[in-house]
Amino acid sequence: MSGTAPARLVDEVLEATVVGSFSRIGPMVRSRTARWDPPERLDGRTVLVTGATSGIGLAAAVGLARAGATVRFTARGRERADRAVSHVVEAAPGADVDYLLADLSDLDQVRRLAESFTAGHDRLDVLVHNAGALTRSYRTAPDGSEVTVATQLLAPFLLTGLLLPALEAAGSARVLQVSSGGMYTQRFDLDALEMPPDAYDGTVAYARVKRAQLVLLHEWARRLVGRGVTVNAMHPGWADTPGIRSGLPGFSRVMGPLLRSEEEGADTLVWLASSPEGASTTGRFWLDRRPRWEHKVPWTRLDHGSFVAAGSALWAWCAERTGWDGLRPAGREAATPSR
Ligand SMILES: NC(=O)c1ccc[n+]([C@@H]2O[C@H](COP(=O)([O-])OP(=O)(O)OC[C@H]3O[C@@H](n4cnc5c(N)ncnc54)[C@H](OP(=O)(O)O)[C@@H]3O)[C@@H](O)[C@H]2O)c1
Repeated sequence: MSGTAPARLVDEVLEATVVGSFSRIGPMVRSRTARWDPPERLDGRTVLVTGATSGIGLAAAVGLARAGATVRFTARGRERADRAVSHVVEAAPGADVDYLLADLSDLDQVRRLAESFTAGHDRLDVLVHNAGALTRSYRTAPDGSEVTVATQLLAPFLLTGLLLPALEAAGSARVLQVSSGGMYTQRFDLDALEMPPDAYDGTVAYARVKRAQLVLLHEWARRLVGRGVTVNAMHPGWADTPGIRSGLPGFSRVMGPLLRSEEEGADTLVWLASSPEGASTTGRFWLDRRPRWEHKVPWTRLDHGSFVAAGSALWAWCAERTGWDGLRPAGREAATPSR
């Protein structure tokens, strides 16, 4: 993390304004007041990005390919996947890029995805959990879970677990979760995580899952101690993607000129995948290349005891739903996030 004291001050003032921080003003100011170096080279490293057919995932795939990484991504349909491959190759000539098909709301497809990946690769340096959408009306996944929970919580949990041997084989690997500032509106409550059909609100369901991703992040961080795998989450800011245009059409119209580009939204992902900070830091929530507070209002915070219990309970819940529980705690209690 580079940055002088004045740059940090500017950054923190911006962070307090929310709109300034999350909109395109954020990277515009921060990249000028602090030193934002281009990504370090990733030649010889393999990355897997979920959901890279458009938006932030596609921009991340381009950034990672330009840095020399072997890029594999997941897609639900061949046509969009082929288009994404052409886009990456055009933006990063000579890129080694390919895809695996999987609908991540289906845990059987997640299992097959992990099998196909490990059949072709014996190591994985960076795993990016990016796939996700704000689903406006209630839908269930094949296992009966609500679809936001299945795609953005259970699938990343299971995929990380099944790919853990490949991550450990890399020697120093990184798992990155694309979360969202939407989680700032929600307190974690396992009993309220999965919204029932009659009370379903897509925006709330999405924000609760994004909050749960952060609770789970701390649990992964403590269970992965000593295994050579870091885990971090990031907020892309508000970026002009097909996802935001369809999920939040009113917001996207009003914010239009202030929205970040897809590249700006993906910048911190590519940076965490390639910078020394991404290897030396674990269990943090990032925006614009800096760790951020995980709460903006006091009522979303849990006290230490409740926080530790919430992490264990959420882990057990995910393990039960997915049938994967291959990682015992390393002994250390999860620290309540200091920021
Ligand atoms: N844009 C923003 O301002 C913003 C802000 C905060 C967080 N985010 C997060 O950023 C991530 C990317 O979103 P985006 O804005 O870039 O949206 P996007 O352009 O719609 O991209 C979403 C990607 O996720 C894939 N996906 C969705 N559901 C899937 C499923 N069930 N199985 C497999 N893949 C699935 C889509 O694949 P298909 O081609 O198959 O549809 C697509 O590749 C999401 O996690 C989102 O929550 C975005």
